[in-house]
Amino acid sequence: MNKLIAAAALAALSVGASAQQGQINIICSVQADWCNMMSTVYARTTGVKVNMSMKGSGEALAQLIAERDNPKTDLWFGGTGDPHLQAAEQGLTLEYKSALLPQLYPWARKQAADSGFRTVGVYLGPLGFGFNKELLAKKKARAPAAWADLLRPEFKGEVQMANPASSGTAYTMIATLVQLMGEDKAFDYMKALHKNIGAYTRSGTAPVKAVARGETAVSISFVHDVTTEATQGFPVGSATPAEGTGAEIGSMSLIKGARNAETAKKFYEWALTPGAQQFGVAARQFQLPSNAGTPVDARVPNIKSIKLINYDYAKYGASAERRRLIAKWEREVNSLPK
Ligand code: F6P
Repeated sequence: MNKLIAAAALAALSVGASAQQGQINIICSVQADWCNMMSTVYARTTGVKVNMSMKGSGEALAQLIAERDNPKTDLWFGGTGDPHLQAAEQGLTLEYKSALLPQLYPWARKQAADSGFRTVGVYLGPLGFGFNKELLAKKKARAPAAWADLLRPEFKGEVQMANPASSGTAYTMIATLVQLMGEDKAFDYMKALHKNIGAYTRSGTAPVKAVARGETAVSISFVHDVTTEATQGFPVGSATPAEGTGAEIGSMSLIKGARNAETAKKFYEWALTPGAQQFGVAARQFQLPSNAGTPVDARVPNIKSIKLINYDYAKYGASAERRRLIAKWEREVNSLPK
């Protein structure tokens, strides 16, 4: 850990972020351990006071919309990319070209270009399933390996997913299914799946935490979040659907009209360095970091072995499309009896 802090301090120096004063207000949409580690290390290495508030991707966007005329937030770190693109389209975020863009993987740079440089990719993570191996063994049920498997009768009431209005994970699932199956079939599928859903949670990571604790057998989750639970000793496994799946481009945006804009830009630059990106794994978060120079832990899902769809981030990050699909899901799926 000390080595990591030294690397982070060096990274902060290299982007001119050292020995500052003042404060920065961040909405953080990754798991609390990662948010807290970044804020503690940044505060320690630079002297800046970091105020972090944790919010799911959809909730973060809702807050930024509410603050539009008087922004209290300076920077939004993490969370799925679609709502960051939506924030960009709505003029809530600042156009900014990082000096580190050339170091980033093409998918992270494309996310920046798609938004008119009002956001940038910080990590990538594929969508799949988490399951509790002990519960499945008790039920003598096979682990799900395909979207179709989640409809099996033995999973009645045993599948959890998040609510797409608050969670970027759940919205990624809807957008993935629509691209994979076509919209009509995707909604037929989600209506059938509704019968097996035990709960729609607020946060995208709540379902896999319920799986880890044996409260439900299966979750629809980013596979890196299943790995987080596995490293803590829970009896969980993960799979990515045989038919194909989508991936999130976790993103970061500077807020337009922010009170601490200059401090926020320095944090932004720091967060794109390998020194800072290593705190993901240090906090047991296993997304693929966007800087090609960041070491990749062996537990990060290998995207080359996953059947990924060619996710249209620009289309599904557009405000009208995201709003339309979530409203349709509320009307046609969530309101159905189980
Ligand atoms: O921090 C874990 C994580 O799955 C991220 O990879 C992702 O961007 C975020 O949570 C999504 O959270 P939510 O679904 O609550 O918006």
